[in-house]
Amino acid sequence: MGDARDPLAGRTEAARAAAAVLAPGSLAGKVALVTGGGTGIGAATARQLGRMGAELVIASRKASNIEPAARGLGEELGRSVLGVVCDVRDRAAIDTLVEATLARFGRIDVLVNNGGGQFLTPAEAITPRGWEAVVATNLTGQWALTQAVANRWMLEHGGAIVNVTMLSHRGFPGMAHSVAARAGVEALTRTLAVEWASRGVRLNCVAPGLIASSGFRNYPEGAFVLDELRSRVPLKRLGTAEEIAATIGFLVSPAGAYFTGQVLTCDGGQSLWGDMWVVPDSPAAEPVVLPHEWWELP
Ligand SMILES: NC(=O)c1ccc[n+]([C@@H]2O[C@H](COP(=O)([O-])OP(=O)(O)OC[C@H]3O[C@@H](n4cnc5c(N)ncnc54)[C@H](OP(=O)(O)O)[C@@H]3O)[C@@H](O)[C@H]2O)c1
Repeated sequence: MGDARDPLAGRTEAARAAAAVLAPGSLAGKVALVTGGGTGIGAATARQLGRMGAELVIASRKASNIEPAARGLGEELGRSVLGVVCDVRDRAAIDTLVEATLARFGRIDVLVNNGGGQFLTPAEAITPRGWEAVVATNLTGQWALTQAVANRWMLEHGGAIVNVTMLSHRGFPGMAHSVAARAGVEALTRTLAVEWASRGVRLNCVAPGLIASSGFRNYPEGAFVLDELRSRVPLKRLGTAEEIAATIGFLVSPAGAYFTGQVLTCDGGQSLWGDMWVVPDSPAAEPVVLPHEWWELP
């Protein structure tokens, strides 16, 4: 497992095995566009789809993330990977990304809306600017790229879209802005899966639980205690980027062809069990006392 304090220490044999299970060549002749494809889950997804034979375009805001990742993955796969600098909050940049992909590869069969992020904050402290930024990235940005890819290619030729979200069913205290955006994406996914079914477009979400990825580096030191996080997961470990990538690879592969409008939760059982949020005792809360006759057996 490596250094127990290192969030990236979760790379396991299981993760490598997950990646290997999807057939090389199953995406041959296809073109996949992955946002946030320079780091973490996005980089693992690009590698997974590349190993399955897809031509790749990866995109995110920072050239320092995208350019070395595109070069490195290209060398690994033995074919060139297109890296495009694109902030999904910028519609002009989205149009440029879609045009660059079509100019280079002539088609877009797979879109993985993975680029995103948020910051931990009590809800009452979220500023209008903070809210706008998180919603613009995680909801409006995913929608804008989905619409652009659909209008420019998929509504005519079909395709598969995966939106990476987060555990949203029970809410996500400490990330109100992001969970609102992600729940919006999940509703949008269900909606478009029906609207665009007849056009051959399938859309699904993958909701990761606690994944040992570079994403943890975005939080202040000490924001998370890894042993504490692991203890909240029934499988008692964090997931890996490769396990999320394999889930995405499955959904966009021929094996996933009958899935549409679904949210696949990949979280080691976390959403079924504990919670990371400790609800403080409130002096105002009166204890609830049930009438004796409600529970006393005859
Ligand atoms: N790791 C987890 O436990 C976990 C759990 C649930 C959900 N997720 C979600 O999974 C996704 C991937 O996360 P990760 O763990 O792999 O973390 P990460 O390495 O920080 O990945 C986020 C990626 O999104 C890109 N990005 C951020 N804002 C963007 C924007 N406005 N336009 C385009 N790209 C943007 C970043 O690149 P640039 O900085 O270069 O733009 C980065 O490559 C995120 O949406 C994250 O919220 C992660």
